[in-house]
Amino acid sequence: MIDALKRASARSVTVVSPFYPYARQDKKHRGREPISARLIADLYKTAGADRLMCVDLHTSQIQGFFDGPLDHLFAIPVLAEYIKSRVENPENVTVVSPDTGRVRVAEHWATLLGGAPLAFVHKTRDINVPNQAVSKTVVGEIEGRSCVLIDDMIDTGGTIAGAVNVLKEKGAKEVIIAATHPVFSGPAVERLSGCGASEVVVTNTLPVPDDKRFENLTVLSIAPLVARAIREVFDEGSVTNIFNDHA
Ligand code: R5P
Repeated sequence: MIDALKRASARSVTVVSPFYPYARQDKKHRGREPISARLIADLYKTAGADRLMCVDLHTSQIQGFFDGPLDHLFAIPVLAEYIKSRVENPENVTVVSPDTGRVRVAEHWATLLGGAPLAFVHKTRDINVPNQAVSKTVVGEIEGRSCVLIDDMIDTGGTIAGAVNVLKEKGAKEVIIAATHPVFSGPAVERLSGCGASEVVVTNTLPVPDDKRFENLTVLSIAPLVARAIREVFDEGSVTNIFNDHA
């Protein structure tokens, strides 16, 4: 599509890719691996993209893979607004990161939820086995508390279901999951619907087909946020300002 637009003399081409493909392959985890996230940026550029717009990149450094402007949008205003409406007692909320890599994002969540305390799950992966994570224990106060468990994506559901399991074992009162990208591959639906979370909240940065929807799943639309960002770009306004209210 980018190539077609370029050859049809488009003045500029902006790629709106709410989910950035291969985002987790942003480094070599061991020798002789590709850095596919970089390759995707090169493909976009070579095809003729002038600008990219994405939501919740797996790591912010991916912005630098694309040689041009990249608008990095955040789903947190959409997700947090909804979560606030679901939590009965805000004083009893703990924000939980499913691994140490997402603690900074969890801090942002904690601020938006009125200074909630933080916890994180100690997760390990075997680099030789793709898509398999082991959640070991949780660091932080979660006993008797309503836990908001956040992540950028749910792929096979192993990370998030493992984290719910650990939180429940350690006495969490309830767990609400909030994640941006519903990849939902392989056993994800089975894991999520049976993990004991009271609600799974995602956005539609990826489509969720009917056969992957389950009872306690909520899919929020990311479209208004993306639309606002597109308008800012084409009116030469500010994408950054969209998020200033939620800083
Ligand atoms: C990991 O770094 C990501 O943020 C997600 O936690 C992970 O990729 C989710 O994958 P899965 O659902 O297969 O555990």
